[in-house]
Amino acid sequence: MATNEKTLNDLFHDALKDIYYAEKQILKALPKMAKAAQAPELTAAFQKHLTETEGQIERLEKVFELIGKRPQGKPCEAILGILDEGKEIMEEFKGAVALDAGLVAGAQAVEHYEMARYGTLKTWATTLGLPEAAKLLDQTLQEETRTDQLLTQLGDRGLNKKAA
Ligand SMILES: [Fe+2]
Repeated sequence: MATNEKTLNDLFHDALKDIYYAEKQILKALPKMAKAAQAPELTAAFQKHLTETEGQIERLEKVFELIGKRPQGKPCEAILGILDEGKEIMEEFKGAVALDAGLVAGAQAVEHYEMARYGTLKTWATTLGLPEAAKLLDQTLQEETRTDQLLTQLGDRGLNKKAA
């Protein structure tokens, strides 16, 4: 028998704090990635996602409101690790032909982490009877998915070949 009182509501709130923290870290990292990118289309992709990320943070704040909590982040080691790897690439591949391919790979790792989180949060919101929250989380999930697809296209279209 479970001896801990925590429920799916608590888990949902916890995961929300995790991704809220992650988005804020991503918001700080994206301008650096945009600046580091060599191909103008990659810089543009990072800048576009920076604007989207601002909107995603606002959506999360609405979700906090919907569950009657104040927006609050909780340090997420996973995103810090992924962003650190990206930082390493920027340093080690500075001025190298493979830099952009490395940046695309790093950004896709970020997107995939977010897609996993938003997919789970959306499912939990539905289970918890929070359709409005589920809708907001799904909007962000679609945005992250499109960003991931754009990065795949940029990689295919030449950044990877240039790197080779
Ligand atoms: Fe995001």
